[in-house]
Amino acid sequence: MFENFSLWPESASTVSGPIDALYLFLVGVSAFFVVLILSALVLFSIRYRRRPGHSASPIAGSMTLEIVWTVIPLAIVLFVFVWGTRLFVRVQTPPAEAMQFRVTGKQWMWKIQHPSGQSEINSLHVPLGEAVVLTMISEDVIHSFFVPAFRIKKDVVPGLYSTLWFTPTKAGVYHLFCAEYCGTKHSEMTGQVVVQDPAEYQLWLDGLPAAKNPVEAGALLFQNLRCDTCHSAAGVAPPGGARGPDLTGRFGSDVALADGQSMRFDARYVRESLLEPAKRLSAGFQPLMPSYQGQVREDEILSLIAYLESLQPADGPANAPKDGDR
Ligand code: CUA
Repeated sequence: MFENFSLWPESASTVSGPIDALYLFLVGVSAFFVVLILSALVLFSIRYRRRPGHSASPIAGSMTLEIVWTVIPLAIVLFVFVWGTRLFVRVQTPPAEAMQFRVTGKQWMWKIQHPSGQSEINSLHVPLGEAVVLTMISEDVIHSFFVPAFRIKKDVVPGLYSTLWFTPTKAGVYHLFCAEYCGTKHSEMTGQVVVQDPAEYQLWLDGLPAAKNPVEAGALLFQNLRCDTCHSAAGVAPPGGARGPDLTGRFGSDVALADGQSMRFDARYVRESLLEPAKRLSAGFQPLMPSYQGQVREDEILSLIAYLESLQPADGPANAPKDGDR
């Protein structure tokens, strides 16, 4: 009878159970106090109602009562705070070994690129049981990537990379929504997440037209955008001499800037340097680089970033571990 009626979305990721538990606890605590307070209200208004022959007596106060109804709520609230914080950190921290997907949102669709380079629109196929990290950015306005069955949601913002991760625990097809009003067809900016057995996923992936993976695509863009006329990369120096910094092994390290500051060479920095090269100039170089604003799409910038990230010397980046939240 209630087959098509559910109060609760399916639970299909490693964090959906723990998030539901916290949510149910909050609902339970609220329900308990609603019942307690309303019952007392009803009971007292009957018991202490105005009657002939009874007169009200003043109450001086009770220290015990004050302490009890301060300490108990405090303990409950702190318990929820610690529980919620631990869960928040878990939900925000992707595992190191995760498949890297790239997501760009635009009015009104989701474009998703698999680690092997194939893309799909408004659907995301993932293998069961594998941790998946989404690096997301918007081409236009703020969107929000929301998969209720996984209990994950995060804003997808123009000019800023945000990450979201999940490990699906149940094969099936789940709703994908945009959860931020983004214009006329916001309500149509939906899609599906398809969780398949790993072998089935591989089969599905092989059925798509072959595509360059982000590193290969980025390497090609590096040539096509003529980045290689000024920057050395992967041991290849520009024919006329390098007018820009060597980009090998830079990703993940700190760069000294012309204004004396320093900055982590990460996804955000690469994107900004491409679009506003003069804003944070590397120390020792002239502001010669033109802006690529309007000439590269966000998914292309993501490929360039993947390429630069791949250009590590044999012994890894110069310093500092890779940032979890780029
Ligand atoms: Cu995109 Cu709402």
